[in-house]
Amino acid sequence: MRMRLAWLTDIHLNFLKGLAIYEFFAVIGREKPDAVVISGDIAEAPSFALFLQEMQEALDRPVYFVLGNHDFYRGSLATARDSASLAMQQSPGLIWLTQAGVVELTPRTALIGHEGWYDGREGDYQRSGVVLNDFYLVWDFLELDKHDRLELLHRLGDETASHFRKVLPEALKSHDQVILATHIPPFREGCRHEGHISGDDWLPMLCCRAAGEVLREIMSQHPDKRLTVLCGHTHGLGEAMILPNLQVLTGGAVYRAPVVQRVLEVL
Ligand SMILES: [Fe+2]
Ligand SMILES: [Fe+2]
Repeated sequence: MRMRLAWLTDIHLNFLKGLAIYEFFAVIGREKPDAVVISGDIAEAPSFALFLQEMQEALDRPVYFVLGNHDFYRGSLATARDSASLAMQQSPGLIWLTQAGVVELTPRTALIGHEGWYDGREGDYQRSGVVLNDFYLVWDFLELDKHDRLELLHRLGDETASHFRKVLPEALKSHDQVILATHIPPFREGCRHEGHISGDDWLPMLCCRAAGEVLREIMSQHPDKRLTVLCGHTHGLGEAMILPNLQVLTGGAVYRAPVVQRVLEVL
């Protein structure tokens, strides 16, 4: 058995005007996917659920998703997660991977996912002068100083890592390969800008190292199994082999011009 899984990332649908969104849904439909997976940055907190519902109705296929940092904009971590959970309850074809756990795509392949959050551990956080809109547009970050912000980033990274520590072994128990969707690249090799790995000033805000450490550890214990990580966030296209059985694909993205990254033929 095989199926076609269309992968989207960083589509930022709130930036599209007029009919462009429906044209994009038609582009996805022309790939004739059996299902769609989105690795975050769908829109923003007040709007992503509606866009997902429209996409799912237009395609009439399961839409699996995780949220990206932009999906929390103009909301809080809790309110955006509540919206994702509610969207899943209201539309059976919408599947929020963070809540769904292990999803079987085919008898050989499982799909798992979690948002991820850059955890400040890669690169040089203390010296970095990078200030993201996240710190002003996600309520949980408001009024946090640099030190407290790092504590929150650590907590969010650890949350993602413990999710994967739970669900990845479960998925590997019954499947030869696993596809994992997460917004933030779990390895520095997955954070590319104009062909090079991003610098130490940006890496703290691009990479979720806690998640990467867990994935590397688990996959090195399962050399006969295969993991493919689909991520985004950097908007810089990249492909890296972290281990012979651990591949990371980072999507390339341009605001106002969403694309289908790839259609994966899943066996
Ligand atoms: Fe993005
Ligand atoms: Fe992002």
